[in-house]
Amino acid sequence: MHSTKPEQNAPHIPVLLPQVLSCFHDPGEGVLIDCTLGYAGHSAALLRAHPDLRLVGIDRDPEALEFSARRLESFGDRVRLVRGSFSEVLPGLLAQEPIVGVLADFGVSSLQLDEQRRGFAFESDRLDMRMDPEGSLSAYEVVNDYSLERLEYIFREYGEIRQARRLAEAVVSRRSPTPIQSAKALAEIARGILPKGGKIHPATLMFQAIRIEVNDELGEIERLLDALEAAQPPGAIVGLITFHSLEDRLVKNRFRAWSRDCNCPPEAMRCTCGGGHALGKSLTRKPLSANGEEIRANPRSRSAKLRCFYFHDRKDDG
Ligand SMILES: C[S@@+](CC[C@H](N)C(=O)[O-])C[C@H]1O[C@@H](n2cnc3c(N)ncnc32)[C@H](O)[C@@H]1O
Repeated sequence: MHSTKPEQNAPHIPVLLPQVLSCFHDPGEGVLIDCTLGYAGHSAALLRAHPDLRLVGIDRDPEALEFSARRLESFGDRVRLVRGSFSEVLPGLLAQEPIVGVLADFGVSSLQLDEQRRGFAFESDRLDMRMDPEGSLSAYEVVNDYSLERLEYIFREYGEIRQARRLAEAVVSRRSPTPIQSAKALAEIARGILPKGGKIHPATLMFQAIRIEVNDELGEIERLLDALEAAQPPGAIVGLITFHSLEDRLVKNRFRAWSRDCNCPPEAMRCTCGGGHALGKSLTRKPLSANGEEIRANPRSRSAKLRCFYFHDRKDDG
């Protein structure tokens, strides 16, 4: 018998777990795709809760997949793991399988952030930040090769840093004649420019911005939404957890467009299309977020937002 408690030794606490379980409370029989398997906290809980559920878990981090293969071993052939980015893997899966759910918990795992050698941590001697260790772009190239203007853009847009220009100038001036070699050296630059906000390290937003660029995190979400829009998996529930306002906006706008019954142009005075164009309905009018207790236990959950969408099943109509 599987316990319903998350394992104590898991290196990552799944965020919004009760909300995820309630989003997928009645998935029926079929396949749920966990696009960001990580350490399988969400996946293990969903498999335990629904004995008829099968799971395909995707991750581009081979270390996460290795851990999760062991963690999910007891579920036997109900589980299949795939290495790759979800934007590449998902379209094929949506075409093959009877999909009942699609879950994604975007961003990095606690273990990726903490492991010194992955170069995400402020004290790291490396400058890497790739979720996929074979990815073509690392933080080293972003920091040492990008133009002043591009760095400023990334800091402003992805980091929402007000001092983006000054920070970009400081990076450009520090990187010659000797390139910036470590996350530690980069964090030092931020410390000189950005204000310290309470317990939050001043480099936090800068590292977040670089990480989003290195892993093309926003592009990945856009392509995931495109794949879902193209497939419109009938009867499937989609639950997406974001950690950044830009990510949440992508999800919110797409769910809103998918819920729209009328597809007349916005300037039309009255509806002439006859309606009936909604692909499904949003299950969360406002995003679900963590309560105080969860935030105290897992500060990473502070900015997590879960939105859920249900794709109509043609059977619903008749
Ligand atoms: C926040 S963690 C997921 C944690 C997981 N829900 C759990 O309960 O353990 C995000 C995971 O998704 C992976 N990931 C992020 N973006 C990805 C992408 N575009 N394609 C595949 N995997 C991705 C990361 O490597 C990381 O392991």
